[in-house]
Amino acid sequence: MPKFKSVKGMQDILPEEEPVWSHVTGAAVSIARRFGFAKIDTPVLESTALFARGVGEDTDIVSKEMYSFIDRGREGEQGESLTLRPEFTAGVMRAYIENGLSSRPQPQKLYSLGAIFRRERPQKLRYRQFNQFNAEIIGSADPVADLEILLLAYTLHKELGFKNLNFQINSTGDPECKPRYIEALKAYLAPYAEKLAPTDRDRLQRNPLRVLDSKERETQPYLADAPHILDYLNDECRAHFNELLGYLEALGIPYTLNHRLVRGLDYYTKTVFELWGEGLGAQAALCGGGRYDGLIELLGGPPTPGVGFAAGIERIVHVMREQGVTVPALPQPRLFVAYQGDAAKQAAVALASDLRLRGIGARIAFDGRSLKAQFRDADRYGCAYVAVIGPDELAAGSVTLRDLARSAQQTMTRESFGAWALQALAARSALTVS
Ligand code: HAM
Repeated sequence: MPKFKSVKGMQDILPEEEPVWSHVTGAAVSIARRFGFAKIDTPVLESTALFARGVGEDTDIVSKEMYSFIDRGREGEQGESLTLRPEFTAGVMRAYIENGLSSRPQPQKLYSLGAIFRRERPQKLRYRQFNQFNAEIIGSADPVADLEILLLAYTLHKELGFKNLNFQINSTGDPECKPRYIEALKAYLAPYAEKLAPTDRDRLQRNPLRVLDSKERETQPYLADAPHILDYLNDECRAHFNELLGYLEALGIPYTLNHRLVRGLDYYTKTVFELWGEGLGAQAALCGGGRYDGLIELLGGPPTPGVGFAAGIERIVHVMREQGVTVPALPQPRLFVAYQGDAAKQAAVALASDLRLRGIGARIAFDGRSLKAQFRDADRYGCAYVAVIGPDELAAGSVTLRDLARSAQQTMTRESFGAWALQALAARSALTVS
């Protein structure tokens, strides 16, 4: 038999990871609700054309990193090309248009959580399947909407204990001023074209803005004096950007103007940002986003502005682990139901089942292990109490309750046991931290 392994770049998230994952996603959801966002869940598969059009044919994501396949068509016909979502935004916009969310009160503030697929070169903290927390404000051009997205990202990372948070921020203009800047950038880089790294030579032709955030060593010397897009903004884009920066300053949110920040998705207009913080190594983004005022129209909807961001959960979890942030343990059953003999086993199963139906957590032994082994299991699972049903208890209709910490035990009727369990265990049952 071949040894099966997970697909390259994809990983299992094991049970011991649950407390930190649940802490992070729980914080994301509770903060999103605090800001007035509601959840939207879109399918993992979308039409390939949606991403080609929305994210952009010339982006790395669309040109190299999508998991696409041709679906089975009707008999004799070829099916549609489908793609595992490489980001949330395009799918959320598709859902906004398709479900007529534009005719509901605007803006719509929507968050999502789930798996994202990009066939990137696997490396540390770069996976081929990873999870994003994504948030979008659709239907407002107000810089306060940009601010809300930045504050949502900031609050989440701050509450999770991140240090030295700093926004990298830039504006990429709009369809009126961005092309003027691109021409200026192309003219500036043209004399150096042969000296740029090969991928950047290619980008200069296909997607010149991306040369700006190139990480290639050969390209770096030519970027330092490149023109700044902020010098090319028209009045509207400049006013929008300055209003946003004014809010950040008033609130004391740290930011740095980053002239080379353009981001790898084509839909951005005006604001683009990333949040940097301690723990990911130099210049790695915890999360990123920006405004996309032309996207909904590009996808066939009414002209509608929007702004959003996404954070990678794996990266957040990694930093929390590196920095030794502790999270609350998840609730575990505090009672172990043990038994001796087959007849008692039936009664024990019934007892555990009844407790769980009443909202009280309980574990039960499998495989007819000895009573001693069952007590060892109870201890290993961190249960505080063991309820024993042996032949005597079975005959008397009773339960022997053992308190492990105090080494005390007491035999009681099933009713008294039920009453004790409700009083001692129910209040701390499913939802409390043990
Ligand atoms: P993005 O910058 O491509 O933006 O991804 C957002 C975040 O997802 C990154 O900052 C990072 O934390 C995480 N991430 C990206 N790629 C990987 C990977 N291969 N492995 C692990 N984590 C990764 C977007 O996806 C935009 N849709 C964000 C947005 C929403 N803009 C507007 N609205």
